[in-house]
Amino acid sequence: MQIRDSNARYGFISQLLHWLMALLIGLQFVWAWRFLQLDIGRERYELVNQHKSIGITLLLLVLLRIVWRQFNIKPTPVSMSDKQKQAMKLVHRSIYALLVVIPPLGWAMSSAGGFTVNWFELMQLPALLEQNDAHKTLLRSIHATFAWLLFVVLGGHILMAGYHHFYLKDGLLWRMLPRWKR
Ligand code: HEM
Repeated sequence: MQIRDSNARYGFISQLLHWLMALLIGLQFVWAWRFLQLDIGRERYELVNQHKSIGITLLLLVLLRIVWRQFNIKPTPVSMSDKQKQAMKLVHRSIYALLVVIPPLGWAMSSAGGFTVNWFELMQLPALLEQNDAHKTLLRSIHATFAWLLFVVLGGHILMAGYHHFYLKDGLLWRMLPRWKR
């Protein structure tokens, strides 16, 4: 099994982080969609708490992914025009940037609202801010705007990957999948 990235493809650690993060990001939007439809109550409270724990996990995973990238060769991009390469770079950087800022914004929003962040009931995280309703409202709109922006950017990322793999048939997706899938 190839653990590290190579010129030709991503290794096991990058693949694991990529698909685990994809799954958790998907859950974050499903959870948000579910709790946004509920009135204040036990069920909503529990869903929001799970959303917070998954979000903190995502923050740890994206930081790990960024560190791991520094210790690995970057696989050579599949053949595409310079414009496409630039667009791809912009999309990837935006995804990383949004994944780094969205969770702390959610965490700060909870603190400003006077709520604790308890990671899967295992560890209570410190409050990032003092309670302040105006700050909570502001942070909520920034968190929501960035989160829905991430949704759009990820849509672009998935479309681009699908276009390359299924239409251009350049095998882009194989690089992010274990070799036995071939
Ligand atoms: C990448 C990670 C995350 C994503 C993609 C995400 C996404 C979202 C989305 C889409 C919403 C609904 C926004 C709307 O009102 O339209 C939301 C709300 C919220 N998020 Fe996150 N979030 C993430 C991480 C976090 C974290 C780490 C926390 C706290 C520790 C958090 C706390 C909250 C809270 C408190 C709400 C509002 C809940 C309510 O309406 O009562 N989020 N988030």
